[in-house]
Amino acid sequence: MLIALAADHGGFILKETVKEHLTKRGIEWRDLGTKSEDSVDYPYYGKICGEEVAAGRADRGIVFCGTGVGISISANKVPGVRCALCTNVFMAEMASRHNNANLLALGGRVLSPEQAIPIVDAWLDNVFEGGRHERRVNAISDIEKEKAGAR
Ligand code: RB5
Repeated sequence: MLIALAADHGGFILKETVKEHLTKRGIEWRDLGTKSEDSVDYPYYGKICGEEVAAGRADRGIVFCGTGVGISISANKVPGVRCALCTNVFMAEMASRHNNANLLALGGRVLSPEQAIPIVDAWLDNVFEGGRHERRVNAISDIEKEKAGAR
């Protein structure tokens, strides 16, 4: 599995921590930036990580900003992306089991590393249940198609 990672300055440090954790778990990752705590704009990083996953160049993605809010909103503008902003393990578990979230968003100014790592693991280690949840996820895709046609 290849995980694409991207962050703004507010999520940079947490991205580095998560990279180390993925390496320890033997999970391959690709870092799309940013490369320091210098100020950058989160929409670009949400977009490029979303594109990486939507295009199939990565299996899943994790995005980071100060709160996780701005970068999750940005990533979710990419068709095919289901980016879940999670602040606890239960949300992350459900994001995989029920929402088939292909991106996870985390807030570097919200979560400590000790809080964030179990969230990452819960999202990675849980599997989409399908069934009624598949119908709902397909309905999300239908909204995308409807709105794309309306443009
Ligand atoms: C940057 O200061 C901050 O606004 C950003 O990291 C994020 O929290 C936005 O949602």
